[in-house]
Amino acid sequence: MKLTTIPIFFAVMGNLVLNASPTFTVDASHSAGAVSPSFFGMMTEEINHSYDGGLYAELIQNRAFLDDEATPAHWSVVNGDDSAAAMALDSANSFNDKLTKSLRLTVTKADKKNPAGVANGGYWGIPVQPKTTYRATILARADPGFSGPVTVAIVSDDGQKIYASGKISGLTAGWKKFEVTLKTGRETPTAKAHFSITLDRPGTLWLGMVSLFPPTWNHQPNGFRKDLMQMMVDLNPKFLRFPGGNYLEGDAITNRFEWKKTLGPIEQRHGHPAPWSYRSTDGLGLLEFLQWCEDMKAEPLLGVYAGYSLPPKNELVKPGTDLQPYVADALDEIEYVTGGTNTTWGAQRARDGHPAPFKLRYVEIGNEDWFDKSGSYDARFSQFYDAIKAKYPQLKTISTIGNDQPATNFVHSRNPDMTDEHYYRNAKDFIAMAPDYAKKYDRTGPEIFVGEWAAYETSFPPWDDQSKNEPPTPNLTAAIGDAVFWAAMERNSDLIKMQCYAPMFVNVNPGARQWRPNLIGYDGLSVFGSPSYYAIQMFSRNLGNEILSVAPTDTAVQGSATRDGQTGEIFLKLVNPATNAVPLNIEIKGATALESKGTAVTLAGNPTDSNSIFEPKKVVPVTRTVRGIKPAFTYTLPPHSVVVLKLKAR
Ligand code: AHR
Repeated sequence: MKLTTIPIFFAVMGNLVLNASPTFTVDASHSAGAVSPSFFGMMTEEINHSYDGGLYAELIQNRAFLDDEATPAHWSVVNGDDSAAAMALDSANSFNDKLTKSLRLTVTKADKKNPAGVANGGYWGIPVQPKTTYRATILARADPGFSGPVTVAIVSDDGQKIYASGKISGLTAGWKKFEVTLKTGRETPTAKAHFSITLDRPGTLWLGMVSLFPPTWNHQPNGFRKDLMQMMVDLNPKFLRFPGGNYLEGDAITNRFEWKKTLGPIEQRHGHPAPWSYRSTDGLGLLEFLQWCEDMKAEPLLGVYAGYSLPPKNELVKPGTDLQPYVADALDEIEYVTGGTNTTWGAQRARDGHPAPFKLRYVEIGNEDWFDKSGSYDARFSQFYDAIKAKYPQLKTISTIGNDQPATNFVHSRNPDMTDEHYYRNAKDFIAMAPDYAKKYDRTGPEIFVGEWAAYETSFPPWDDQSKNEPPTPNLTAAIGDAVFWAAMERNSDLIKMQCYAPMFVNVNPGARQWRPNLIGYDGLSVFGSPSYYAIQMFSRNLGNEILSVAPTDTAVQGSATRDGQTGEIFLKLVNPATNAVPLNIEIKGATALESKGTAVTLAGNPTDSNSIFEPKKVVPVTRTVRGIKPAFTYTLPPHSVVVLKLKAR
């Protein structure tokens, strides 16, 4: 069937042009290709306090006193006119060789009315929720002569209100682990609170680790924030790319994500300096990433460290003998994920609490290795590729040098199963590039993974310092750029098998973020989705398994269409970046039994509108019934809109 292309002219992103009613044709006579079942997923790394101070539900910041060499960062002394206490980091009294420092608390004056001790301010406050049970875990030892009691409490910052408290006693000269349950009453939610550990008499004690968890998703002890998990589950992701991103590589080889150091009880995890300006506790370690996948019913897309760390140091492990231990480490990691309990690392996973192996199909070798100007990636990739394919021939390997880079840099000594390309573009640039995007790609070459992408709406790209003055999450203009790019990827989803927006998370408290734009914002108490989040949600939840050809693809209104092969439902995605409403003549060719009643889901508004903690639902999709659907009908797209039309057919 021949599809007609009708030239149209109208206003795009504020530039006045003539308008005519354009026609958008969907060829439903046959499927133009299969939509990959793993088309949409999520990308994650420790950035913007995504884990510590984010998804990882730990509430104590610097719980193991390792954040700062010199001072007990985020800890303060609690005392008053009639009490006295002092605190200091102590390297001579450490809990073990992983928690290499402790906090010594010396109370020289205190009584029941005038307690003294230390407090932790959490990640921009300890969030207090009503009728909630918190679990505190404390590693402590004491000087002879003091065995307790010690009061632990969640207290308002003005000291006027104790939201919840409990006691520990029986401290000895040897290290012990104490657990206390703290229950709040009918409180108004607040984050203006801290966690305190106080004595009502003089004494000296050492704290090796102080941890406080609220209720978590699926009640996992070392688990995730429930509200953030729900936001992700609502997007229906099919995979999770982890652990980065730059977080995989680190800014030095010693600061890479060393998965073996992220296993076991949290008191066995030293943590490490992460590349985004703060230290990671490694509380969210390899097993937690895998459990996260399981919780979302998504499959892991595992990034393995490939011997190159970030600029400006550009530390490199030479391919060959030097790289071999890193290759072996990646094989161990794959065994940890997939191996039976009769394997060394599968057995370790079982000891860590998860006997069943995880399903794994994709391994990404490194991250953005085009930054490595030495040109060693081809050899490094090959070394990993050969070892992985020899032991796990079923695994698909992903090269980190994709079509966004000059072809001369591509891996050429081996054939990667997939290549990863990254796009951080201004919304206008996405709109300009989308019509042609991926059209000219070699359909016989590797499959495509768009492993990071996001539209921004400002003059400043994410890596520009000035973007720090912009809101942490994008507005509707960016969402329109995102939607246009999604539609382009979807049109080419015969080749683009997987794609994920990045970064996903941002803690919106001052100083918490390093990057914008980000999909989902939060503080300690609440979470919101950006307009981009809702555009993605509309698109990910309305995705068929057959690609339908659409035309034209090079006009102001851009779109894509897919069909559910089982039910016949057609999902038509349309994006109108224009300042004016566009009556669109829609022609559905070759569909049988098109029902006259359909559904429209619309995200529209002022292009500068965005969501925030204070206005979390300012820009959200609206669903309504549409009548009068037939093979040729007109649907008016509001100005600045993202629309999904769901059309029932057979
Ligand atoms: O998503 C933020 C960063 O952008 C990632 O860590 C890196 O891979 C990319 O450069």
